[in-house]
Amino acid sequence: MPSIDRLAIRKILDSRGNATVEVDVVAGSALGRAAAPSGASTGALEAPSWPPGGVDAALRIFQDSLAPRLRGRDVKDQPGLDRTLRELDGTPNFARIGGNVATAVSLANAKAAAASSGKPLFRYLTGPQGPSIPLPLGNVIGGGRHAIGGTTIQEYLVVSQGPTALANVMTNARVHALVRDALMKRLPGVPLGRGDEGAWVAQLQDEEALSLLADVCRKVEREAAFPVRPALDLAASEFYRGGKYRYRDRTLSAKKQIDFVERLADDFSLFSVEDPFDQEDFGSFTELTKRIGDRCKVIGDDIFVTNVERLRRGIEQRAANAILIKPNQIGTLSETRAAVDLAHSAGYATVMSHRSGETTDDTIAHLAVAFGCLGIKTGAVGGERIAKLNELIRIEEQLQAGA
Ligand code: PGA
Ligand code: ZN
Repeated sequence: MPSIDRLAIRKILDSRGNATVEVDVVAGSALGRAAAPSGASTGALEAPSWPPGGVDAALRIFQDSLAPRLRGRDVKDQPGLDRTLRELDGTPNFARIGGNVATAVSLANAKAAAASSGKPLFRYLTGPQGPSIPLPLGNVIGGGRHAIGGTTIQEYLVVSQGPTALANVMTNARVHALVRDALMKRLPGVPLGRGDEGAWVAQLQDEEALSLLADVCRKVEREAAFPVRPALDLAASEFYRGGKYRYRDRTLSAKKQIDFVERLADDFSLFSVEDPFDQEDFGSFTELTKRIGDRCKVIGDDIFVTNVERLRRGIEQRAANAILIKPNQIGTLSETRAAVDLAHSAGYATVMSHRSGETTDDTIAHLAVAFGCLGIKTGAVGGERIAKLNELIRIEEQLQAGA
């Protein structure tokens, strides 16, 4: 039994320049190392990243109460470790130890277990359905909480559906580059920057930004000879105030928002729409899914927060047909996997996701492959984003080689 000999935690930087944590789990000669990301447009019901007192309090809690209790555990017993984390926390949502420490410990343990069996993580975690390569969803134009002065809608993404992950990653990056050229032409002399996830910050109205992206997608689709479609993450809870959705150029009731998103999905042939409504508005999600669910993925992020209870409610109400999966919204690998499995058993698609504040940790590429996710949302460019994309390319190479 490979047991945990040593655990360590350190403070490291995330891509926004904030402190986060990285955890090492050592079992014999095997090392598992994982870092936790942080969101900016966080769901109201997700695990808080940090305990009261912030990152430093998280480090102290780890040293004083987690590490001593976890030493000696069998690294292969992931469910047991995750249950112990829950018990040591003692709150319903990791409010005492923080979701980020829980996530980093849980993932580092899985990586140590994989290393001790001599397997890459994706192999170690792959279930009976076998590994599968997800479609990358690349963020191209960004606003909302991820950028100052940009669009109201948080993310305008591209989803290339070519024969390989390599082709899709490269095609998404090409769309990102061509959108820069199109924006410079459209807004000459206007400074052009990038938001937290490497997406362009466009000083355009929302529909204009989508139309510009859709034009580029059509052009690249013709070149590539496979589908290259736009997608949106509205992160609508962030601009829902006083019962209305407040864009720069329009204010919409919930009913009008359903019509608006339906029209965008059809006019621009959207691959997916994520969080088109406030996180508590299951009813509007249900109505939109009824209208467009046969041709567009309606993805729940803040509404489900990778939580099986919230997802179960969504499934009962037919509130979506896909779920975004963020391990640190729920805090453990076992519960992340439970959300994925429940989604798949209900016919929902899953999209494994980064957070806006990231590190170069590439674990989510392995999780997406092992869990059979339809997609992986992890940006189009930028160091902490390409860490995952390039790992996906390496995994694909191993699968092609039959490794
Ligand atoms: P976050 O945003 O990481 O800032 O929460 C990502 C998303 O909403 O999908
Ligand atoms: Zn989202």
